[in-house]
Amino acid sequence: MADIFDFECCLSEEARRRAAPGQMVSASGVAEDIVADLLVGQPANEALPLNHMVEAARNALPENYPALLYGRRKGSLELIDVVREKLRVFEGLEVDRDQIIITNGSGQAIDMVLRTFVNRDQIIALDHASFGALFVRRVCDHGAHVAWDEQGPRPEALDELFATRQPAIFYTIPTFQNPMGNTITRERRLQVLEICHRHGVPVFEDDAYYELHYDGERPPSMYELDGGTGLVTRAGTFSKILGAGVRLGWILTSAPLTERILPLKTDGGTSPFASALASEFMREHMEEQIARLQDIYRERRDIMLAALDEHVGDLASWHRPNGGFFVWLTLGRPELLDDVMQRCERSRVHVRSGSVFRVDGDGLGAIRLAFSHAPHDEIRTGVRVLGESIRASIAANP
Ligand SMILES: Cc1ncc(COP(=O)(O)O)c(C=O)c1O
Repeated sequence: MADIFDFECCLSEEARRRAAPGQMVSASGVAEDIVADLLVGQPANEALPLNHMVEAARNALPENYPALLYGRRKGSLELIDVVREKLRVFEGLEVDRDQIIITNGSGQAIDMVLRTFVNRDQIIALDHASFGALFVRRVCDHGAHVAWDEQGPRPEALDELFATRQPAIFYTIPTFQNPMGNTITRERRLQVLEICHRHGVPVFEDDAYYELHYDGERPPSMYELDGGTGLVTRAGTFSKILGAGVRLGWILTSAPLTERILPLKTDGGTSPFASALASEFMREHMEEQIARLQDIYRERRDIMLAALDEHVGDLASWHRPNGGFFVWLTLGRPELLDDVMQRCERSRVHVRSGSVFRVDGDGLGAIRLAFSHAPHDEIRTGVRVLGESIRASIAANP
């Protein structure tokens, strides 16, 4: 047998860089080993419309040869029309076909938009803690987080950052933020847009959770508030509505900018097969599915919040999210974060350290809890174990 080939020494700089901390989210592990999975922002199993997808396949596939051929670069026209219809029904927003690109999940949309605007030696401005931190190193070496108050990014922090280190783009998740769960108010959105216009910094609005609204305020998107000037590029996804396995998302921006973003798309066209099924499903069931998801996740959020009140109490603080998948818990003793994480891990309760959402790896003494995927009892158990872990950590570190 030949010697094992040492590929490590042959790796490109890019491959080496990607092995650095700040990797994409991993799968949540083997189910039997886990006591509670509060780790990944995945849909609940019962939210996945498998039966309707079988029906959608029966209706969409016969005679549909293009579904198994290469697709249009900008994506399936019928799925683009579904996205336009969704924007019209849920937001009263009218957009043209040539303003949309269908992507392989919004992960690909993020990658394409960042590569369109950012050079390796430039910086990306990000929310205080951000899912976007997972993407920064793919594109450049620097990210700068903008501090938030209860309304969103602090205007003076944004202004100062832009004046001193002109970022290539401001990547924000303004609605039901990942990981922080909160939402930028309408007034603050307008302030942020004014600052970005003044400094000439484009905005990337990652809107993965827009549809998952349970109660309270949901302001218009940054894209809408900006009135189509071309400053804001917005991305959305079918991962949370239909299931992450369909791998479909979209970019919405000005028509001329879509032409600059498109060359960064390196595939043979986003799956025409998945697009055909998703289009059929959405045409038949969009509103009913989204209403169903809102009921499922509102209940899970409430279960998690009640469990936090009962088991964590004043050992940490958190916001009540009006939508999305996450509660962001800041420990009363931030320095215990690693110890608490280790205790949870040993009890096989999986939660996400805040450090994943910072380019500098600063955990902010915070933990992200996903309430979307775990069944009700698992949420309660997970939060109880988390409370016990915090207490044990405090006892061991008086
Ligand atoms: C804020 C945000 N953006 C984008 C994504 C990527 O989603 P996908 O690539 O599945 O569309 C996620 C997934 O968790 C997310 O939370």
